[in-house]
Amino acid sequence: MLRTPLLIAARSAACRTFVERTPLTRAMVTRFVAGTTQEETLPVVGDLTTDRLVTLDYLGEDVADAAQAQSTVTAYTRLLTALGEQGLAPRAEVSVKLSAVGQFLPADGQKIALDNARQICASAAAVGTTVTLDMEDHTTTDSTLAILRELRVDFPWVGAVLQAYLRRTEADCRDLAHEGSRVRLCKGAYDEPESVAYRDKAEVDRSYVRCLKVLMNGSGYPMVASHDPRIVKITGHLASVAGRTPDSYEYQMLYGIRTEEQAALAAEGKRMRVYVPYGEEWYGYYMRRLAERPANLAFFARSLVGR
Ligand code: FDA
Repeated sequence: MLRTPLLIAARSAACRTFVERTPLTRAMVTRFVAGTTQEETLPVVGDLTTDRLVTLDYLGEDVADAAQAQSTVTAYTRLLTALGEQGLAPRAEVSVKLSAVGQFLPADGQKIALDNARQICASAAAVGTTVTLDMEDHTTTDSTLAILRELRVDFPWVGAVLQAYLRRTEADCRDLAHEGSRVRLCKGAYDEPESVAYRDKAEVDRSYVRCLKVLMNGSGYPMVASHDPRIVKITGHLASVAGRTPDSYEYQMLYGIRTEEQAALAAEGKRMRVYVPYGEEWYGYYMRRLAERPANLAFFARSLVGR
C-alpha cells in the first residue's frame, strides 16, 4: 500500500528537501549507502572483497545538463583508476545508471549517454574490470538495451539489468541468453503501470523464476540479484539442473541487506557480489529501499518523532 506513494516521493523535489533535512536520516542512510565519498567507500570495498565480489554505484540519476553528466563520468574514471591502483579491480566492477550520464537530456540524450558510457567502459577496460548498466523505469528499457548493443561492439563484457516485473522481460532474457552476455536479473524497483508490468508480488516472483530458467539454460552469465530466500534456493536447483559450475553464474545483493546470508553464500564457495552505492545523491536510491520493505519505513518514522 505504501510502495506507490514512496516511489512517487522518490521523484519529488519537495519530499527530497524534507527527507534530506530530517536530522536522523543521515544515520539511517548509512545502512544502505557505504559512504558519501570515494575515500570513505574504498575501505568498505576492501573489507567486502575479502570473501565477496563488489559492484560500485556512484549515486545519481536524471541529470539535468551535460556538465552534470560529465562530472558523473569523471567520478567513475577516478573510481576505476583507484580500483586499479589499490589492486581491487579483479574483484570490483561498476554499475552505471544511464540517466546519470545524460540519457534523459532533451537534445541528443541517447548519444550523450552512449558517448559517456563508452568513456566509463574504456576506463574499466584499462584496469581490467567490467561495467553493468542499471535499468531504470520502463520508458528507458529500449534505449538502455540499444546502448548496451552499441557498447558491446567494443566492450563485449558489458552487462545489463533486466527486471522480472516487466511483461517483456522473459523475451528480453531469451535475446540476451547468449554466449558472453552478462544479465543481472532483479524483480524491479520502480512504480510501473499494469499495462507493462506485473503488479502482484506472486506474479512477479513467478516471472522471475521463468526468466531465471531462460538465463540458466542459456549460454550467458546469469547474475541473480535478489535477497529472496526462495529465489536463492531455486537458483541453486536450476543451476544444477542446467549443469552449471559455481563460477558460471553469481548471486548479488545490495549493501546492508541480508548481510549474513551474503557471507553464508560466500562461505559455501558461491560467487556472491554486493552492490555498493556511494556518493551524496542518495535520496532516490534510499527511498526505493524504503518502498521495498515496510519495516524500513517504520524505522524511519520512529526517527522522525525522535525515538
Ligand atoms: P523481495 O522484495 O521479495 O524481498 C525478499 C526479502 O529480501 C525481503 O523479505 C527482505 O527480507 C529482504 N529485502 C528486500 N528488500 C529489502 C530492503 N529494501 N530492506 C531490507 N530488506 C529487504 N531494481 C531496478 O529496478 N533496477 C536495477 O538496476 C536494480 N539493480 C539491482 C541490483 C542488485 C544487485 C540488487 C540486489 C537489486 C537491484 N534492484 C534493481 C532492486 C530490485 O529490483 C528489488 O527492488 C530488490 O532487490 C528487492 O527485491 P528482492 O528480489 O530482494 O525480493
